[in-house]
Amino acid sequence: MKNQLTILTIFLVSCSGYHDPNRTISSVNYVSEEQPPVEQGEVWTDREMKAAKLIRNQFRDILEESTGNSELMRRDAHPKHHGCVKANLEIDNSRLKSEYRTGIFSENREYKSIVRFSNGDPNHRKADKKSDVRGMAVKVLDVPYKTYLEEVGIEKNNSVHDFVFMNSSEFFIKDPKHYGTFMDAVSEGGFSMLKFGLGSIVNPSDKFVSILTKAFSMKVGNPLDIDYHSATPYKLGDTSMKMMFKTCKAYKSKIPRKNASNNFLANKLRSYLDKNESCFEFFVQPNQDKRRNNIENAQRKWSTKRSPYYKVGRLTVLKQSKESIDARNESCENLSMNPWRAPTANRPMGGVNRIRLEVYVKQAKMRQDYNGIEYPGPTKFD
Ligand code: HEM
Repeated sequence: MKNQLTILTIFLVSCSGYHDPNRTISSVNYVSEEQPPVEQGEVWTDREMKAAKLIRNQFRDILEESTGNSELMRRDAHPKHHGCVKANLEIDNSRLKSEYRTGIFSENREYKSIVRFSNGDPNHRKADKKSDVRGMAVKVLDVPYKTYLEEVGIEKNNSVHDFVFMNSSEFFIKDPKHYGTFMDAVSEGGFSMLKFGLGSIVNPSDKFVSILTKAFSMKVGNPLDIDYHSATPYKLGDTSMKMMFKTCKAYKSKIPRKNASNNFLANKLRSYLDKNESCFEFFVQPNQDKRRNNIENAQRKWSTKRSPYYKVGRLTVLKQSKESIDARNESCENLSMNPWRAPTANRPMGGVNRIRLEVYVKQAKMRQDYNGIEYPGPTKFD
């Protein structure tokens, strides 16, 4: 409990740093209406849409404020990358039922990919040895299908499919209403954040603190050493799924106790891949218990007994020189990742993901406009 409270306090303080007393959220704009029709028990009414609009505007205000007069506008979440590395994603659908062989799982083939490893904290200067959420986003290149963002006309002819994962199998926010309350507490700062955190501790159905502290307290010796999850559900045939990249690197790098450079994770990643390749097994977890695994509750842990994982491929992170990774740093900063850059057959599901549809495109456009990069950023890599 003491540990939980410490982590919670660090997290709340880092979020509260953005408090702007003059902030106004009356100017609702930028928000798209391109939400897909609800299915499989999804809920998306005017209430959720309104919450999404407010959240989107809060994200915009936070990013404007944190950028100030800087030359570079960074991502508001996961701004610090350890590197963008080349990988091959091999799909093998042989263990999947035929009705689940949809979207990327419909064909067995190999795709060139780029993987961006990141820390979650909004502060890009935070030292790697400190506790943090860890992210892994995979851009699968030259896919032979259209993504949801292309279907609704937001993007054209990208031919990429993004997976945006983190080191937790559940998300710490339950649904749009919960997210709205959380963001309000973030913008009010101080006591409101404390009240939000303590309120979650005393409510047994709210897993905010336990999920957050578990994800946030993760220390790693190398970004290649840990497993990454979709956390939120995605569509798979007539059901939903969660996904996971499970590391197959046998030897785990030591976590340095002292004298670690602030960016030691980039160094570990670069020096490991300079001499070795690495890999992740790709798993999907079809939802086989729709009653318990309510897709509108992103905090819900899906039992692996009732809904087992199936291996659907392998992501091989190629051996590559340190110099080639360094040469990709600029495109790593400039690219955008978006969970809705997926075929409609594997589209994100549930209210938390629908908020992401309202937020990611606009935040990426705002960031890239500011930095003089054409949306959606690089989709070809050397
Ligand atoms: C409503 C929920 C969420 C919101 C509002 C949100 C918001 C954002 C935003 C605004 C960005 C920066 C996008 C850009 O500028 O290109 C971002 C990046 C990211 N988010 Fe989320 N996020 C949410 C949920 C999640 C979840 C569930 C995961 C993982 C399972 C996740 C993992 C990441 C990662 C890894 C990145 C960095 C992507 C990259 O490497 O470029 N986020 N998020």
